[in-house]
Amino acid sequence: MQSDLPFFPVQASSYAHRIDALYLSILAVCVFFSLLIAILIVYYALKYRRRAGSPYPQRVPTNMKLELIWTAIPLIIAMIIFFWGANLYMVASSPPADAIDVYVVGKQWMWKLQHAGGRREINELHVPTGRAVRLTMTSEDVIHSFYVPAFRTKMDVLPGRYTTQWFEPIRPGEYHLFCAEYCGTKHSGMIGKVVVMEPARYQEWLGGLEGGKSTVALGEALFQQLGCATCHTGQATDESKRGPDLVGLYGREVKLESGGAVIADNNYIRESILRPASKLVAGYVNNMPTFEGQISEEGIMQIIAYVKSLTQPPARP
Ligand code: CUA
Repeated sequence: MQSDLPFFPVQASSYAHRIDALYLSILAVCVFFSLLIAILIVYYALKYRRRAGSPYPQRVPTNMKLELIWTAIPLIIAMIIFFWGANLYMVASSPPADAIDVYVVGKQWMWKLQHAGGRREINELHVPTGRAVRLTMTSEDVIHSFYVPAFRTKMDVLPGRYTTQWFEPIRPGEYHLFCAEYCGTKHSGMIGKVVVMEPARYQEWLGGLEGGKSTVALGEALFQQLGCATCHTGQATDESKRGPDLVGLYGREVKLESGGAVIADNNYIRESILRPASKLVAGYVNNMPTFEGQISEEGIMQIIAYVKSLTQPPARP
């Protein structure tokens, strides 16, 4: 629970205390040097002030040793802050492999969230303690930013591409969710909450859903409905096969017709659905229509979840 005017948000994620430690250390360094310099300015201004009848001071020669010291010490401090920060940045941008997937779509002015199991929420996110949660996020309109102070996580949510963030909640409770990027008139109203529950209660919550379909099942239905299965089925050797193989595609390197290669990640698959001609797979001509404007952001995320799940060729229509 949070007090009405907390000095610091509670530390509710596994790496929150590490972010705070870095933040407070930088703050301590700043305070120490600010005070040191301010006090010395006042002290020397008084001590060496010009008095009546005193001679003008001599020019002070350069002191190499002193200059080296006052260059080296700040350099060392800055490097410590840099490596410490870079290390934490890597932690915060590398979700564990077993993370729970949640898909987030931001729009003016609400958050739409979709769990892998298919359960959807608006402006609320329910997650269990002790499990890493990875958010894959995009926006339907302008730039938003998904910010949960208690987790010490914040990431921009951009139209036209995916960004991710992850956290592992460590204490049950309700925490503020903010949009941290000005996105129009009701930006300040684009708020919600993250509800962290004990794993058992979370399972109960998940179980109490409207018999919904999983994200993968929704993706499969869309895949059939939009006619993707017409070309993206069968084995690589089939005569009738017109589109690249999707089995095991996710996360693999794909050779491109134009030379070079890309990793088939969320952003690549999304682009290939909306603008198939932009990065053609080696050995194929583009005869796929664009799906721009024909499929919602949620729909694209569902199809990506489906493609990710494929272990055998999709069924023929
Ligand atoms: Cu969305 Cu500010």
